[in-house]
Amino acid sequence: MHSDILNVAVLGSGRGSNFQAILTAIQEGKIRGARIEVVISNVSDSGVLAIARANGLAAIHLDQRQFGTEEQFVNRLLAVLASNNVNFIVLAGFMKRLHPRVIQAYRSRIINIHPALLPKFGGHGMYGMNVHRAVLAAGERVSGATVHIVDEEYDHGPILMQEVVPVDADDTTESLAAKVLKIEHRIYPEVLRLFAEGKIVVNEHSAAIHQS
Ligand code: GRF
Repeated sequence: MHSDILNVAVLGSGRGSNFQAILTAIQEGKIRGARIEVVISNVSDSGVLAIARANGLAAIHLDQRQFGTEEQFVNRLLAVLASNNVNFIVLAGFMKRLHPRVIQAYRSRIINIHPALLPKFGGHGMYGMNVHRAVLAAGERVSGATVHIVDEEYDHGPILMQEVVPVDADDTTESLAAKVLKIEHRIYPEVLRLFAEGKIVVNEHSAAIHQS
């Protein structure tokens, strides 16, 4: 099973460590069939844009507040994606909700990573340290990371890959976040590789990975 080359847009708002993990995997030849066409951020001084610029990639600051209406903003975002021939979107710490028109235009071709085991600890307000705090408060024995397809609902689309980490008695939000982040940096590039090799088939409510 082989798909066309993935022309990827990375959308992020922060530090960019997941983007860096994916970029490194591509640069090291571990993900063939995917290239980063453009990096877009709503935060002008974000790590993601800095990493993109340092690597000679197209880096674009795009924020709805630069536009009169949401429609103009979405039009511009779609135009930037189209003019860079983007056919796949990777959300890497992107803190804005994607407009349904974007989700529709890239149906089943937008992925996100979440720092917990969805469907638990997802949804509105569940981001960053809030997630790890909630996991500890609930007395969970395990947490982990989830890569999933993005649909119109927060943290909701078909799950592609999860990996579990133990929650230890002496874990703090910071130590748990660090453990989970390590997992994120491994499974996010892995999912992109599987996509690039045409091994992931997404249906409306589920996704299947064909490893062979
Ligand atoms: C990660 O924890 C990811 O799970 C969440 O946002 C964070 C982004 O971190 N969606 P980074 O910007 O990739 O370092």
